[in-house]
Amino acid sequence: MKALILVGGVGSRLRPITHTSAKQLVPVANRTVLSYVLDSIKEAGISEVGIVVGATAAEIQASVGDGAEFGLDVTYIQQDAPRGLADAVLVSRDFLGDDDFVMYLGDNYVVDGIVDFVADFRRDKPAAQVMLARVADPRRFGVAELDENGRVTAVVEKPQDPRSDLAIVGVYAFSSAVHEAVAGIRPSWRNELEITDALQWLADHGHEVGSTVIDRYWKDVASVTDVLEMNRHLLESLETRIDGEVDEASELVGRVVVEAGAKISGSRIVGPAVIGPDTVVQDSYLGPFTSIEGNCRVAHSEIQYSIVLRGASIEGVARVEDSVIGRETEVNAAPRTSTAHRLVLGDHSRVQVGG
Ligand code: G1P
Repeated sequence: MKALILVGGVGSRLRPITHTSAKQLVPVANRTVLSYVLDSIKEAGISEVGIVVGATAAEIQASVGDGAEFGLDVTYIQQDAPRGLADAVLVSRDFLGDDDFVMYLGDNYVVDGIVDFVADFRRDKPAAQVMLARVADPRRFGVAELDENGRVTAVVEKPQDPRSDLAIVGVYAFSSAVHEAVAGIRPSWRNELEITDALQWLADHGHEVGSTVIDRYWKDVASVTDVLEMNRHLLESLETRIDGEVDEASELVGRVVVEAGAKISGSRIVGPAVIGPDTVVQDSYLGPFTSIEGNCRVAHSEIQYSIVLRGASIEGVARVEDSVIGRETEVNAAPRTSTAHRLVLGDHSRVQVGG
């Protein structure tokens, strides 16, 4: 069995972070979203992985390399334009051959992975298997209808009027029957080859499309809120580890990771929080659910429920909350005599300032 990971998509709801980085590479608890996907694939006993890349191919390759770091053997497959999830299967035909494969959308995170899902597929040997989860508002997902045996009878992409509350999580498994399906469908109204149409094609042509309904946490990481929420979830299971330096004047409360080379002085850190390698935290307060990557500087500031990317500097700011601060960003206090805000912001930045 092989795996196909899809990392196209422009990540418009994560701008400006995604102007300079693929959304699958946004760090959550100081590891990329894509790392958690790769871990789950390895855990499911799969080692041959194809990553379908688009405009962000270079960064994805720089981050994952040949996959050895994850115990995987990675092949890159270029998709010339975002022509849909079923098109990704089409362009991967040589890599996939006639093998069964798991298809995993690289911006999805499923807690406790996909071992049970792959086991269901291997046991029942359907043409395709979809992972489903009950959601409050199914309209932003593919939505499935099941018969009494849990087989998929219908799938509709982002329906206005959903017929069930079962959303398609971005994890699928296919036999080689899918190749006939992706060749048999036409582009949708948004000019993409939809994987939901391929699933419907299979069901309509007498193939079994099975389902695994999960009731555990999963996240389709599309917006800043999603990233912060996934960060919160991952930090919940953090275990304390102090490899860096913490001076006598500092206090660490709860579960905190301080990576090697990090220096904490005169600060109070209330976990769960993770401080990356070579980051300096001085005379500051770091509150719960904060992930600070490596080579950052936080001084005379307060920050909580936030993600700070590598090389950023925050000085004299009280206080930063619900925020994602990009790489090499500087956030400083303006001189006290002025109430004006001096801003140098990239395109699509979002800033909320106090009154
Ligand atoms: C895609 C699929 C959709 C699925 C979702 C899960 O949508 O088309 O069926 O429910 O992923 O994340 P997208 O997020 O690309 O809009």
